[in-house]
Amino acid sequence: MSKTTLFDLDGKIAFVSGASRGIGEAIAKLLAQQGAHVIVSSRKIEGCQAVADAIVAEGGKATPVACHIGEMEQIQAVFAQIREQFGRLDILVNNAATNPQFCHVLDTDVSAFQKTVDVNIRGYFYMSIEAGKLMREHGGGSIINVASINGVTPGNFQGIYSITKGAVINMTKAFAKECAQFGIRCNALLPGLTDTKFASALVKNDSILQMALQHIPLNRVAQPSEMAGAVLYLASDASSYTTGVSLNVDGGYLA
Ligand SMILES: NC(=O)c1ccc[n+]([C@@H]2O[C@H](COP(=O)([O-])OP(=O)(O)OC[C@H]3O[C@@H](n4cnc5c(N)ncnc54)[C@H](OP(=O)(O)O)[C@@H]3O)[C@@H](O)[C@H]2O)c1
Repeated sequence: MSKTTLFDLDGKIAFVSGASRGIGEAIAKLLAQQGAHVIVSSRKIEGCQAVADAIVAEGGKATPVACHIGEMEQIQAVFAQIREQFGRLDILVNNAATNPQFCHVLDTDVSAFQKTVDVNIRGYFYMSIEAGKLMREHGGGSIINVASINGVTPGNFQGIYSITKGAVINMTKAFAKECAQFGIRCNALLPGLTDTKFASALVKNDSILQMALQHIPLNRVAQPSEMAGAVLYLASDASSYTTGVSLNVDGGYLA
């Protein structure tokens, strides 16, 4: 009996935003391990270069590219580069997001509101549009949006962030419905509390952590690598009939 090839990504080109550390780094490394050529992206090229170098050192294929997804002209420039260098894109993982202000929702300042919307909604939206146009030219692809459990149940003092993550869940369904005809699938990953720099204010504070754990049946936070397998499923042929879903990877939190 031969092993399944359902999870193979040989010959695929994948773009992962926010891939210089945390969940995005783990996703980039797993997709590369499965054979994809991964475009490793974030705002700062140094971190992307380090992740790409680590992938190449393990025998994989990776290209580092700087792109601030809150800046429209940087999105345009990165897709011009992808067209010129690769001519196609098979997998887009919208993972980079921002959460600049922890505060009571009534105290949200307008600059934090604008930044969060620009990166988490407009960034995901126009990255998906550019990727979708390229995928349509080549018969299809898979878009994976890293949303959050906060998109279903708002996190305390994370109002505007949670609102943008709720928008990402609905964005996922809109792209799934309208792009299915082009062979493009679009799904969302909803991580629970994961041990990264992003969540360090929660994970590194013992009293906050103990409170959070009371709501997580598996009674621990996730490691970034525990998010990557779900993304591999959504990126690969293993999920060929799956589109428009939100996949909770949250230790049971939303249950
Ligand atoms: N950690 C959690 O508990 C948790 C829970 C639910 C959902 N999530 C979601 O998971 C995703 C990844 O979070 P993480 O925890 O892995 O965060 P992280 O460790 O802080 O990593 C964030 C990554 O995004 C990049 N980045 C930040 N702003 C960017 C921008 N405007 N444009 C492009 N890249 C940008 C960062 O690199 P540069 O600084 O070089 O740009 C870095 O590579 C996010 O969508 C987050 O909302 C996380």
